[in-house]
Amino acid sequence: MKTIPYGSQWVDDNDINAVCAVLKGDWLTQGPLIEQFEDKIAKYAGTRYAVAFNSGTSALHGAMFAAGVSSGDEVITTPISFVATPNSAVYLGGIPVFVDIDPATYCINTQLIEHAITDRTKVIAPVDMAGYPMDMREIRDIADRHDLVIVEDAAHALGGRRYGMSVGKEADMTMFSFHPVKHITTGEGGIIVTDSDEYTERLRLLRSHGTTKDPKKLTRNEGSWYYEMQELGYNYRITDIQCALGISQFSKLEGFITRRNEIADAYDQVFQDLPGIIIPPRPRWPDSRHAFHIYPIQCTGCDRKGMMSKLKEQGILTQVHYIPIHQQPYYQNHFGFREGQFPHAENYYHHELSLPIFPRMDDEDVNRVISAICKILGVDGS
Ligand SMILES: Cc1ncc(COP(=O)(O)O)c(C=O)c1O
Repeated sequence: MKTIPYGSQWVDDNDINAVCAVLKGDWLTQGPLIEQFEDKIAKYAGTRYAVAFNSGTSALHGAMFAAGVSSGDEVITTPISFVATPNSAVYLGGIPVFVDIDPATYCINTQLIEHAITDRTKVIAPVDMAGYPMDMREIRDIADRHDLVIVEDAAHALGGRRYGMSVGKEADMTMFSFHPVKHITTGEGGIIVTDSDEYTERLRLLRSHGTTKDPKKLTRNEGSWYYEMQELGYNYRITDIQCALGISQFSKLEGFITRRNEIADAYDQVFQDLPGIIIPPRPRWPDSRHAFHIYPIQCTGCDRKGMMSKLKEQGILTQVHYIPIHQQPYYQNHFGFREGQFPHAENYYHHELSLPIFPRMDDEDVNRVISAICKILGVDGS
């Protein structure tokens, strides 16, 4: 029996050939493909710039740095995300401030954001949970009124659209991840898209040890070899090898997102009428598209753990996204969070199960998942 994972990359011979061509060439890292990859993603997102990093996490760290987060600054985000979202602010001495989720979207409840703002707030970091392209208009309004920077964690939402706009266009900086379970992969990798010259410069600075060779920025210039380290930066550079894979994968992105949506449609069609489970929310506006990085159901009338193990017995692997971050020991020990603080996030977590969804799943795989779930719930799924 073939095992169906909850997510998986799709690397084909074209991808492999593109990577091999780089391996046979002159540049393994810091060559021309980084800029080519950045240009493609910026154009797709509709922004002036893109700065690629060696992971989505380092890209988020870069965005928090570019936004000016420093010791004691508060960053508002959601407890339902991967730990990398608040960690990126904590690296800089920032303080995470969680706001509960909206049970209708699984994303941060925009109505509660304003109550969480203090004179130390610097950034709002919404997360497009599962690929649901969250409404950015209200967040933009709040950010403008309080002079805050929006760093959108769109690790799940490359290819998402909302009211006619690509995810990536509306926040001050938006992050996409290229981890293998994401929409396209570079192995590890991430990127920030932005329209800002200033943020772009700061992102590039953090990515490369805080060093610059830009004659306009140097305090003095001793010759063509001369560079200065002006900030504490890191080696967060992505390689040409990774970008060759990214460029080749990018050519298949639209097909990948379409297939993800086909699978989600097939699941919705059967699961929307099943007692005991709730299907994920869809964007409400015209000209919108969910990016379906994951397909999170809520097991409201069935045992989530039992469902997971019964599916596993049939070779169908699932996951849980996410353990609320305020329940993590590190966040409890360092920032005093405790269970019970964010009831909607906790309720979501207790019932959540992510079903398999990835472009290489064929109709037979999809039907196997549907039949298995119907059988576990004791209903006829035909
Ligand atoms: C919501 C979210 N933010 C950030 C990250 C970090 O991205 P990466 O794994 O590329 O560092 C992930 C990756 O899983 C994620 O899902």
